[in-house]
Amino acid sequence: MNPSASAPLLTLRRIAKNYGGVRALRGVDFDLAAGEVHALLGENGAGKSTLIKVATGAHRPDAGEITVAGRTLDGLTPTLAQQLGIACIYQQPALFPDLTVAENIGLRLEHGGAARRIDWPARRARATDLLARVGATIAPDTEVGELSMPEQQLVEIACAVGAGARIVIMDEPTASLTQREQARLFTVVRELRTAGVGVIYISHRLEEIFALADRVTVLRDGASVGTHPVAAMDEAGLIKLMVGREVAQLYPPAESPPGDVVLSLQNVGCSAAGVRAVSLEVRAGEIFGLAGLVGAGRTELARVLFGLTPATAGEIKLNGRPIAIGSPQQAIELGIAYVPEDRRRHGVILEMPVAQNMTMAVHRRLFPTSWLRSGAEQSLALEYVRDLAVKCSSCDAPGGSLSGGNQQKVSLARWLATKPRVLILDEPTQGVDVGAKSEIHRIIRRLAKDGLAVLMISSDLPEVLGMSDRIGVMRAGTLAAVLPGGSDAHTVMAMALGQEGDKGAA
Ligand SMILES: Nc1ncnc2c1ncn2[C@@H]1O[C@H](COP(=O)(O)OP(=O)(O)OP(=O)(O)O)[C@@H](O)[C@H]1O
Ligand SMILES: [Mg+2]
Repeated sequence: MNPSASAPLLTLRRIAKNYGGVRALRGVDFDLAAGEVHALLGENGAGKSTLIKVATGAHRPDAGEITVAGRTLDGLTPTLAQQLGIACIYQQPALFPDLTVAENIGLRLEHGGAARRIDWPARRARATDLLARVGATIAPDTEVGELSMPEQQLVEIACAVGAGARIVIMDEPTASLTQREQARLFTVVRELRTAGVGVIYISHRLEEIFALADRVTVLRDGASVGTHPVAAMDEAGLIKLMVGREVAQLYPPAESPPGDVVLSLQNVGCSAAGVRAVSLEVRAGEIFGLAGLVGAGRTELARVLFGLTPATAGEIKLNGRPIAIGSPQQAIELGIAYVPEDRRRHGVILEMPVAQNMTMAVHRRLFPTSWLRSGAEQSLALEYVRDLAVKCSSCDAPGGSLSGGNQQKVSLARWLATKPRVLILDEPTQGVDVGAKSEIHRIIRRLAKDGLAVLMISSDLPEVLGMSDRIGVMRAGTLAAVLPGGSDAHTVMAMALGQEGDKGAA
């Protein structure tokens, strides 16, 4: 047997990486074999993305050894990584929005000189072929800017396949995918594996790891705490490795019945946002969960209530009084807070310190004179850093230096700091690790107990079922049903899909 054929595709030995005083990686060992899906698991800030950045040459490790297909490399650069067949699919695809799909794929894969003529028919044909291979039904002439994020991800994967990548890395690829898109992605990953590609797969969703991965490496505080065959592990065991302790997977129960109606919607609609005739009430102390498929109009409804796309029909009342929410500024003044879903686009400002990120929505109220600012800002920020267990070197660290999940917590803190009456949460625990997730659930319940009306959008069905006092199911821009808390998954899904006939199960 050819020894190099059985050698791992990728070996990382004793990789260390510091960012200033932060020890992101402290001597991590990792290897990837051909034809395997190797999951990387760990709490927020454990070092997963950093390890990936080292493996793609984006960041240079302070110490350690990188071996690709038997060849130990002195310094790995992004260009060299690409030549060696390493491709990384990011959650936010890095494509040119104004160019077509075929042009984007062409740019990625053609290495001609500037003077080389472009063979348009060949470029189109190859794009068509690659898209078909990854199961995408996207016309090659579509401008990338018109594609959804999951579609852009598929284009990225098509590029990886086209480039003959032997190592494909995916860092939380499914965070915003619908179930069907997720299933398609899984099919693509399995095909890559069958073709002998090695796949590194990062996700906080344990069920994905059990469905997809062959082996799992768990990182904790920048160190590997072990590599195991997935078949030898169960969920509780993985959590314990990851967190270093048992985490109760229980949802905090409501302790008292809800109070008066805080927010009331009567036939609310917004034609531009595709929301129509939504009627619902949320009471003080109540968590109203909004379930539904991605695209059912839940985020659109949240945007209407936050004044981003103001309502054009119906009536909104706050504490019994009719109100108009014409802008986010008005929403904030009325006591409505909105924690948006896509923290990378709407959430944290990467250059701004953590403390300022957390307090920016309350600046004018809290700090009428600027000399009061930094002390009050610091103490407020410290409170949330402690409450939400935000992992950062200090409150002065830039938002961009935090791991993805910790950025999510900062964005949550910002809106909690406004001390709202109505809190709208859009996918509050997306990208957050299991320990932090139960922490956030506890905080949401506590806020409700303190009298807040909470509207919680979530695609995580167990979360909606476990947290909600009542569950609204949205479909095609409107509220299809309101179900009591404790309803079963089957009933909620049937309503979300529009299979009313199945309602008998309720
Ligand atoms: N550019 C940077 N500057 C300073 N610190 C950084 C930088 N990038 C990462 N870190 C720190 O390194 C540690 C590991 O971060 P990393 O992004 O690798 O975590 P992660 O495991 O991917 O977490 P998540 O699940 O939240 O995405 C964190 O403490 C983070 O704050
Ligand atoms: Mg990460």
